[in-house]
This record gives sequence, C-alpha cells and structure tokens, in this order.
Amino acid sequence: MSKRLIVAIDGPAGAGKSTLARRVAERIGAVYIDTGAMYRAVALWAIRQSIPTDDAHRLEALAHHAKIEFLPGENRLLLNGEDVSAEIRTPAVATAASEVAAIPGVRRAMVTLQREIADRSSIVMEGRDIGTIVFPDAEVKIYLDANTDVRAQRRAEELTTKQIPFDLDLLRQQIEDRDSRDRNRAASPLMQAGDATYLDSSNLSASEVEEEILRIIRSKTSNGKALVP
Ligand code: DC
Repeated sequence: MSKRLIVAIDGPAGAGKSTLARRVAERIGAVYIDTGAMYRAVALWAIRQSIPTDDAHRLEALAHHAKIEFLPGENRLLLNGEDVSAEIRTPAVATAASEVAAIPGVRRAMVTLQREIADRSSIVMEGRDIGTIVFPDAEVKIYLDANTDVRAQRRAEELTTKQIPFDLDLLRQQIEDRDSRDRNRAASPLMQAGDATYLDSSNLSASEVEEEILRIIRSKTSNGKALVP
C-alpha cells in the first residue's frame, strides 16, 4: 500500500465493530486498533488501584502513566508490560471503562496515543470518537449500528465463548446504560460524523458487513486501484 490509509469505525457497544474492523484490516493489510481496549485497560488499572471512576484528577494522571501496547499482529493488549487481554473483557471493566472514558483528561491521553500509533502505518481504528475527534480527516468513516436486542445477543455469544458468566437481561441493561453514558457525556460523545456512512448490521452477517465496508473503502480511495483485494 503506497499511501497511509485511515479507516474509522465508530458505533455503540456490540454493533460488531471489533470483528469487522479486524477482518477488514486483514483484508487491506492495515493495522487494527481497538481503542475501547485502551479505555478498558485504564479502567482495569483504576479498579486495581481502588481509584473511584469519578476521581478525574487521579484518573488523568493514571491514564498518562499507563503504558499501553498492542502486540503486533495479535489482538493482545499489554498494560504496563502485563497481558491483560482477557481481564479487560468482563462486564465490570466495560462499565468502568465507559465511566473513565467520560473524563476529558483520560481521553486526551488516549487520543494522543491513538494518533501516535496511526503515524506509523495504515490503520483500521474502531471506537466511539474516531471519525469525529481522533481522525476527523480519515479517508473512510463508517458508523456501524445494530438494534439493542441483536447487540445484547452478540455480547452474550462472545461471553459464552470466553466462558465468562452473564445474565442476558442484566447484559442488555448494561449495554443500554453504557450507550446512554457514551452518547450523553460532554467530552467526545458517541455520535455519527457528518461524513460517515451509516451501516445497520442488525440483519446482516459479518461477511455481508465486511463486503459492504470493503466496497465503501474502494469507493472512497483515490483512483479506485486494487487497494482492497
Ligand atoms: O468498544 P468497547 O466496548 O470495548 O469500549 C469500552 C468503553 O470505552 C465504551 O463504553 C466507551 C469507551 N470508549 C470511548 O469512550 N471512546 C472510544 N474511542 C472507545 C471506547
């Protein structure tokens, strides 16, 4: 790939962003970045340090000191050198991540890191504010959505695979609470960028969404050359 390409994928929890962003990154030879995992890592550290998720001052300092790294070519995240990939996936950490992500200082630290990572290669980055705040000039922006029941069901399947226990009604409630917090916070709330393409994945398979995203990438990239296989 000659030119560095940025594909931004935003949307609510459970819309299928991670699966799709990973698959699309692989198809176009770009690096996949899961920014939610970064907020989850900060939240996990806060929980371990017994820092309340509304202590903005200490959490900002924590976010600046956190050493967050993605292992190249793998979907694994290191927090201060420790592989916390599994631990950040629990519902408790998801809720705490949504809370710490409302703190402007925490967001500043993560956005700086996200821009640094993208400096090095073409990327497919997924999160809540990638097309609006992190990369407002991204060549490709997708807003991936799905209805709440479908999203709760997908999360349930994911947790089952990982053998993490859950209650479906509680899971649905947690997703709704998290979405509401992510959409209504003052700092970089979840919203569709004006120039993003809206995609509802409720009734589509992962392969269908993947093909649609690849089609959008092809249509948006320069001269339509075979960037996307
Ligand atoms: O994508 P996820 O469910 O792993 O994200 C966990 C939380 O992190 C989510 O509830 C909101 C927050 N987040 C954010 O505020 N901005 C991002 N770019 C990514 C995630």
